Amino acid sequence: MINVSNDKKEERLVSPEETEDERLDRSFEGLRPRTLEEFIGQRKVKENLKVFIEAALKRKEPLDHVLLYGPPGLGKTTLAHIIAREMGANIRLTSGPAIERPGDLAAILTNIKEGDVIFIDEIHRLSHVVEEVLYPAMEDFEIDIIIGKGPSARSIRLELPRFTLVGATTRAGLLTSPLRDRFGMSMRFEFYEPSDLKTIIERSARILGVGLSDDGAMEIARRSRGTPRIANRLLRRIRDFASVDNKKIIDREAVDESLNRLDVDCLGLDGMDRRILKKIAKDFDGGPVGVETLAVTVSEEVETIEDVYEPYLIQIGFINRTPRGRVVTRAAVEHLKKIGEL
Ligand SMILES: Nc1ncnc2c1ncn2[C@@H]1O[C@H](COP(=O)(O)OP(=O)(O)OP(=O)(O)O)[C@@H](O)[C@H]1O
Ligand SMILES: [Mg+2]
Repeated sequence: MINVSNDKKEERLVSPEETEDERLDRSFEGLRPRTLEEFIGQRKVKENLKVFIEAALKRKEPLDHVLLYGPPGLGKTTLAHIIAREMGANIRLTSGPAIERPGDLAAILTNIKEGDVIFIDEIHRLSHVVEEVLYPAMEDFEIDIIIGKGPSARSIRLELPRFTLVGATTRAGLLTSPLRDRFGMSMRFEFYEPSDLKTIIERSARILGVGLSDDGAMEIARRSRGTPRIANRLLRRIRDFASVDNKKIIDREAVDESLNRLDVDCLGLDGMDRRILKKIAKDFDGGPVGVETLAVTVSEEVETIEDVYEPYLIQIGFINRTPRGRVVTRAAVEHLKKIGEL
């Protein structure tokens, strides 16, 4: 997705969302871990899943439906692929907005085999009518479909092969409770610790054939907003700088130089993050300011602020959500002062 900033259209380097280039670029695909073993971090999610997968395999049953939620770029889609692979199942990929009518869902459900995994990304965006069809499908593995039109139309019940639904969302709060209740497990993704990100970056560097020092990897890890997608993106951009500069090994200094040129600060914040913090600090006297007002002042969508920018700023303790709006913390103000922006 391209983020449109106030003055010019630009792709935001530290956006956790997938860019169009990345979607099309096969080499990014190559960085995706394929097995649970290779999947780094998210220890709680991984440990639970491992037990459930083993148990399901032992019973020779499909895995229970799984809901994966958390900020973008943390590995939900990757994990859905891994679940299918570990279960020895096929995966069908779709998304909430892509399933426009009940018929679209019926077409998917009637074309699966026993044990298949259906992955619905952005599941919070399913329409109500589609959800209604999904309930009995998830619960009893059956759907009612309407045959014919007008007075002669009748509804018939179809039995479905047993399948596993993996739903992903950045917004678990927007899921209706009947839908949420039909997932046997629900797993929350957390931002990654720098040490886990470092391992991910080192693995990516090996796959891409990039020479990277220990402190270089750590420096990228620290500046990746806890997000593997950003870590991989930064690594590739830094590699470009290094290759132009004829550097064989990317060390901390090289990382620092590249990221400064790319306007990513020592905590991984970019111009937009700092703009949000500065607006609250200066124009609103530290807050509280309502998210709608904030969105207007920085020319962003409310949803983008809430899903993309804010989670990490909250995570590092720079913004607090209060009932009356957002406030910046002292730590944020100190950071802005330290880097000379306040
Ligand atoms: N645990 C991990 N170990 C190694 N690499 C990872 C891990 N998680 C994610 N990645 C990398 O990060 C990238 C983004 O992951 P993924 O597409 O699964 O995120 P997502 O949570 O589905 O994001 P979105 O919400 O935007 O769909 C992947 O290309 C993958 O290479
Ligand atoms: Mg995804």
